[in-house]
Order: sequence, then structure tokens, then C-alpha cells
Amino acid sequence: EKGGYDHFMLKEIHEQPKAYRDTMRGRISEDGRSVQLPELKITPEQLKKINRVHIVACGTALHAGLVGKNVIESLVRVPVETDVASEYRYRSPIITPETLVIVVSQSGETADTLAALREAQRCGARVLAITNVVGSSVAREADDVIITLAGPEIAVASTKAYSSQLIAFFLFGTYWAQTVGSQDEENVAYLLAAMQSLPEQVEHILAQAETIKSVAESISHHSSLFFIGRGIDYAIAMEGSLKLKEISYIHSEAYAAGELKHGTLALIEEGTPVIALLTQEDLYEKMISNIKETKARGANVLGIVNEGNEVEVAKSVDRHFAIPRTLPLLTPALSVIPLQLLSYYASLALRHDVDKPRNLAKSVTVE
Ligand code: F6R
Repeated sequence: EKGGYDHFMLKEIHEQPKAYRDTMRGRISEDGRSVQLPELKITPEQLKKINRVHIVACGTALHAGLVGKNVIESLVRVPVETDVASEYRYRSPIITPETLVIVVSQSGETADTLAALREAQRCGARVLAITNVVGSSVAREADDVIITLAGPEIAVASTKAYSSQLIAFFLFGTYWAQTVGSQDEENVAYLLAAMQSLPEQVEHILAQAETIKSVAESISHHSSLFFIGRGIDYAIAMEGSLKLKEISYIHSEAYAAGELKHGTLALIEEGTPVIALLTQEDLYEKMISNIKETKARGANVLGIVNEGNEVEVAKSVDRHFAIPRTLPLLTPALSVIPLQLLSYYASLALRHDVDKPRNLAKSVTVE
């Protein structure tokens, strides 16, 4: 049942190229120039009227939503807010008929996410669900549904469901952009070509799992570490940190790299591991100076960089791991893979129950 892997989590990490291909299949036209989402009931006219988006979810699904915010805002230029589902309905969110609420849920049964969906509909918004389970409560009640085709996810720590949610956001963001004309045809074709290269690029990363394993073994001796990034890399830092806490029980925090010096830098001491994401080249120099701030206090830094920047980044970090090149907006679908492997191998080194971490359940049906 684990297909030759020691754990479901490792199997599911390795299923990501397939999950990406399955989630994209049939949704990109044969000429590679447009997205087709015939499952959507929202009409192009209705989509054109949407002037505000709320993305609501819990945990890892929320982290996919943070990437989704970046994707929609940069492709469509409509303002997007993301909310923790358990907070959403208690803050009297401003919802109008021109608001699109996007709920993200692997299981489609998370109580808080379902309650947020109902509240949004009660206030007159249209709800789009991104979920992995056909026939789930969220899928049944939402006005529109985009199914991720990650296949069943057994490990409590979400991997392939999360990354397929990113693909769903790329597809929906591109579809929306093409519908309202906020991106020209060439840009759309360029985005879609880059998306179609992602599965093979993930395979390339997975082939280097051993490199990550040795980093994971060295961090497993530490009781605290930091993930830092800027822009879309900050969203990935949060996901990397959650995954590590969840299955290795090592405390970690994700920080927007520029925010460290406003207090948290006090916690960096000799040997503190810092995982720094440097996939956004327009923010590269800024990241390097933030890395230097941590190194001056003794941090041991692993840099996640784009291929081609290894030599340059090696001057500022202790170790680095390179991911294949893609468009800046699509990097999360690649940069999350080494972080998943890092938490898997750290949990393994500490002999924890990788697939069934303490205190956690796969589906959270209480509020
Ligand atoms: C973390 C994890 C949880 C879930 C969260 C939402 O690896 O799995 O944080 O992402 O409980 O679950 P769904 O997506 O089923 O609503």
C-alpha cells in the first residue's frame, strides 16, 4: 500500500509530479495558449465584476492561499485578503456581492472552513472551493469547485494536496487573467509553458533527496530554528516551518526576512539553523543582507536558491540547495519540495511516527 516507500508521506512527496500533471490535465488547451475550466459555473461576465477576494482556510491549505493571494494579485490586480478560517466569521469581514470567497481544503470537511463558506454565502458572496475530495461537504456546498487531483492523501502532514492547491491557483489565476484580459496572450502562453515544465523539475529535485537528508540530520539536534524569506518565499517559509513542527516536534518560526531585526534576531545564537529562501531575484540582494545579519550572530544558514546562483550565494551561506529555474510566481511549486523532504528526514532521524504525529488528526471536524 505504501508502494515500496517506508512511509505514506515519502510516497506522497514522490507522487507530486503525477499530482501536478493530473491537476493540469485537460485544463490547458492543446495549443498551450489558454486555460479551460468548464467545471466553473461563474460566467465571464460575473468574474469581470469581482472586485475583492477573500481566501479562507486552515493550516497548510491557508499557506497555499497565501501563494494564491500573490498569484491573483499579480496576474489579475484584484485585491486579495487571506484569513484563518477560525477567525474569519468573527471579524465581520466586508463581503459584498462582488466579493469572491475562495475556500481551500484538502479534505473538504474542516469545520471552520465549512463555517466560513456558509457565512460568506449568507452575506451574499459567491464561494469557489479548491478541494481534493469530490462529494465532500465543502465541494457540495460551494458555488464553484476546482478539484485538485492529488489522489488520496494518507499522511497527516499534507504534501501533494498542498502543492496541487498551488497548481489550482496558478490555473485559476491564469484563467481569470485571460478572461478579463489583464495578461496578454503571449504572457498566458508563457505561464502555461512554464507550468507544464514543473512536474519534470520536481522529479529533478526529488533525485537529490539525499542532499536534504544530510541537512535534516544535522538540524535534528537543534531545539529551535528559523525559516526566512521575502515576498512569495515568506509564504513558503511558513509552510516549511509548519511541516517541520508538525512531524519533527522541533520548534521553528517563519519570518519575513526584513522583520527579523525587529526583535527575533535576539534568538539567533552560535549554530542556530536558518533556512533562507532566495528564489525571488528582485529581492536577492535584500535577502543576502538579511542572511548576513543572522550570520554575524552565529547562524548556520541553508540557502534555497535558483540554479545558476549557486556560486554567488555560496559566498554568503553555509550550505545551499538549488532548484530548477521557473517564473518567479511559480517557484513555490518547486521550493516547497526540499522543505517537505527536510521535515520528513528530520522526523525520521528523531524516530518519530512520521505519518501519525502526536496530537494531530488528518481531518479536523471540530471548531
Ligand atoms: C498540515 C495539515 C493541516 C491541514 C489543515 C486543513 O500538514 O495537514 O494544517 O492543512 O488541518 O485541512 P484541510 O485542507 O483538509 O481543510
